Amino acid sequence: MKESLNYEGSLSSLNLVPINVKTHEFQKLMLIYEKALIKAEYEIEKIQGVLKNIHNYNVIDKIENRIKSPESIINKMKKKEYDLNYKALIENIDDIAGLRIICPFKSDIQNIKKIIENKTNIEIIEIKDYVYAPKKSGYCGLHIIGQVPVDINDVTANVKIEIQIRTMAMDFWAKTEHKIKYKAQKKLSKLDSKKMIMYAKILNKIDNDISKINSKYST
Ligand code: GTP
Ligand code: MG
Repeated sequence: MKESLNYEGSLSSLNLVPINVKTHEFQKLMLIYEKALIKAEYEIEKIQGVLKNIHNYNVIDKIENRIKSPESIINKMKKKEYDLNYKALIENIDDIAGLRIICPFKSDIQNIKKIIENKTNIEIIEIKDYVYAPKKSGYCGLHIIGQVPVDINDVTANVKIEIQIRTMAMDFWAKTEHKIKYKAQKKLSKLDSKKMIMYAKILNKIDNDISKINSKYST
């Protein structure tokens, strides 16, 4: 019989065990996140079709997925000063399984959010709205922390996933900025940071205007 357990409960034997990314336990845990990612992506693909039928264009232009690398998980935990055990990992690292949805128009973001809320088995836990309130860097996007049920042996666990929803313009900014920062391997100069913030604002204006023009011609 299947029972619904929370994630922490179903893996409680691991709780305070120190994380070692080379172990079988760690790999097993990553497989659970992979299952969650596949399930969530399937849900998004389903609504991709529904939204296309309603609006007559690809509201969801592209879906990307990734599992956070072991190195990034450990780096993030160290940066945030969490204990390096499984309990801390499961409770605090929300973006091990990550989906990114890219859409043409700014107005699409809310439509996609609503349909995820109402028409999928992805349960929303938290929403970070960096479209309404962009980050200091200039970054824009809507982040949904959600959970999906995954069967582990004979129990069902709720596994966290992060879904980022961005317009193509937001995605262009975030990807190029990430590449530049990664290459620079340190913070950008003050002038370059200012420029990037300004470009984010310009792109936001373009996003707003194009979205408005589009809605004028939508039925
Ligand atoms: P992280 O430690 O970065 O995961 O921060 P967090 O857990 O507070 O999550 P947050 O909601 O800030 O989202 C982090 C994710 O959003 C990152 O993994 C990036 O994909 C994206 N992101 C956030 N800020 C920026 C930024 O300034 N530049 C770029 N390129 N991406 C960003
Ligand atoms: Mg994150």
